[in-house]
Order: sequence, then C-alpha cells, then structure tokens
Amino acid sequence: MGVGGVGRSRPFAYGAQVMNDIDSLRSETLGAIAAADSLDAIEAVRVAALGKQGSISALLKMLGGMSPEERQVQGPLINGLREAVSDAITARKAALESQVLEARLASERIDLSLPAPEAPRGSVHPVSQVMDELAEIFADMGFAVAEGPEIEDDWHNFSALNIPETHPARAMHDTFYMAPRPAGEAPSGPEGQRMLLRTHTSPVQIRTMTSQEPPIRIIAPGRVYRSDSDATHTPMFHQIEGLVIDRGIHLGHLKWTLETFLRAFFERDDVTLRLRPSYFPFTEPSVEVDVGYSIVNGKRVIGGSEGWMEVLGSGMVHRRVIEACGLDPDEWQGFAFGTGVDRLAMLKYGMDDLRAFFDGDVRWLAHYGFDALDVPTLSGGVGA
Ligand code: PHE
Repeated sequence: MGVGGVGRSRPFAYGAQVMNDIDSLRSETLGAIAAADSLDAIEAVRVAALGKQGSISALLKMLGGMSPEERQVQGPLINGLREAVSDAITARKAALESQVLEARLASERIDLSLPAPEAPRGSVHPVSQVMDELAEIFADMGFAVAEGPEIEDDWHNFSALNIPETHPARAMHDTFYMAPRPAGEAPSGPEGQRMLLRTHTSPVQIRTMTSQEPPIRIIAPGRVYRSDSDATHTPMFHQIEGLVIDRGIHLGHLKWTLETFLRAFFERDDVTLRLRPSYFPFTEPSVEVDVGYSIVNGKRVIGGSEGWMEVLGSGMVHRRVIEACGLDPDEWQGFAFGTGVDRLAMLKYGMDDLRAFFDGDVRWLAHYGFDALDVPTLSGGVGA
C-alpha cells in the first residue's frame, strides 16, 4: 500500500481482522435477533451486543486507538453495524410486543352475543314506592313536593304550629330532644332554640309558608321520629303532609282532594270517606278521616262500608298558624292533612308488622319490594 509510515502501520496491521470481525459479528448478531422468541431473549441479545461489555461496544471502543485514516475507514463500518443491529433489535422487539398483545387480546376475548350472567338484583322498598305513588297522584292535582330538615327547632315543630311551651300536645309527641347548646353559643331566634328530631312533617307547612308566596299547593313526604316502639310503632316512621293556601278555600276542597287522592291511591272508585270532628292545635276545625272497608275471605279490603279505619288527620289551617308565618288570615285560608306513609303501604300491600319495614331482611325485601322499572304512573297504574 505504500502509504504506511510512522504511527500508521499499527492500525493498518489489524484492519483486515476488524473487517472480518465485523462481518461475522453482523451475521451472528442478526441471526440471534431473528431467533429471539421472547422479549427477555431479545433483551439478552441487546445486552450481549450493545451493552457496556457487549461485542459491538468493544469494537466501538477500539476506534479510539486507531489512526485517523483507519478510523475513517473503520468508523462507518462499525457504526453501520451498530445501527443495523440496533434497528434489527427495535424491529424484532416491536414484532414480539405485538405478538404478546395479539395473544392477550385472543385470550381476553368476550362474546357479547352471549346472554348476560344472572346478577343479584335489588328492589325498591315499599315506602319509597308509596312515596313515588303519592308524588305522582298529587302532581296530577298540581301539588309540588316540598322538604324540610329532620333535625328541627322547637319553633317550627311546635310554637309556630300553635303548640306553645305549656301545651299538653307537646307531651303527647314523645319528642327526641338534642342536647342544648352551651350558653352563649346559641344564636338568637328560632335557630337558637333547643333542637329536636321533628315529630311530624307539619313543620314543613311553616317552612313553606315563610318562604313562598301563596297560592301554595305542596306535599311533604319524609321521616319523622317519636320515642315509641311496638308492632305498629317504630321510633322512626314516615309521614306525608299536604298543604293548600289560597283565597276562599273551604272544607269542601279538603274533602274533594282527600277523596280523589284515596281513590287514586287504592285504585278503587268505591272508596268511601267518613270525616269525624277531631282536634289538632294547628287546624280549626280539625277532622279525622276514616276509610271504609269490607271483609273479603276474612281479610279487610279497602272499599265499601262494613267497617271504618282511621287514615288521616286534617283540617283548615288555624288562623294563628297563618299569622305566625306572616300572612293575613283574612286574605289567605287553607287546609292541611297528614298521614303515615308506612301505614298506607301496609293497608295497600297487606303487610302486618311495621317493624319488618326497617329490619333490612332481604327475603322480606324480595317479597314486598318493587322492580326498579315499576315506576308508578297514572296511566300505567300507581299500584303493583
Ligand atoms: N301532624 C299531625 C300528626 O302528626 C297530622 C296532621 C297534619 C293533622 C296536618 C292535621 C293537619 O298527627
């Protein structure tokens, strides 16, 4: 070659050897890459060739010891090898990864045309169902649904309903009282009074009359609490309140409303009502409402008039209650009624122990509960 000289002879001396190495290393490594059949195997090939101690890395290190001329020749060859090997590894890795994905997709395949597996199903509690039925029936008569808090103050639950501190009706309510707030911490006004668990839904009458302008037509279903417990009384039970405030309202409107409601609820046209004079501090006059029943196969069935059972308390809203809410009782009159939702459910669907309502026994719920899709509508029927 004749171009050799001092300092150049050494690299040239093993140039041919390097080229040989490159060729065999290329075919060896590419062969190993093609043969690698897992991601672990391809990683092992990569470490053996391109890792710190790898065969190609060793060649790259040799470049440093070469003369510039030799490096010019060997550099592109060695770098070309490194590139070819690293490209082959990347391609093989991608192929192996997609193989792994394909295998996973194949093993996790589901057949959407198969029927769905049997899943445990819940049911709608009869109390919820009856509340929905009531909301549907009253919505049709133009009543909105109103709400109030279950933790109530003395004024809304009693005083504003014409039940002053000394009234004997307070004792009859078996009230659960909250611990009084420490002196100085209680705000003034109704909110500062001793709090209690509402004993009836009637405080919602007050909350509605003090926050809305008449005319008012609302129902208020919800939980109420009394310290009382036996087969027909639980410490928590459900009531629904009704309130109408307008001009010129009289007892006839009350009777028509209750009759229409009870006929729709029991889904019978022969539901008969009997109004009896009664007493509630917040209505004057007050009437208790009985529905007639007949005996069929030894069981009481709503309809007819063989016997009577009490279902509702009601009356014309007392002047003092209208006044307490800041309205003029000479301009605005109205009627109110209240009844037990649990009791209505028992009468309609034939359960006899109120306590079972709140036991959470799945057998009872499966038997008396309703399908979630059985939404009460007036056209489809408000019953089962
Ligand atoms: N709040 C009464 C009770 O719990 C029921 C009632 C409501 C009576 C509205 C008259 C008017 O017994």
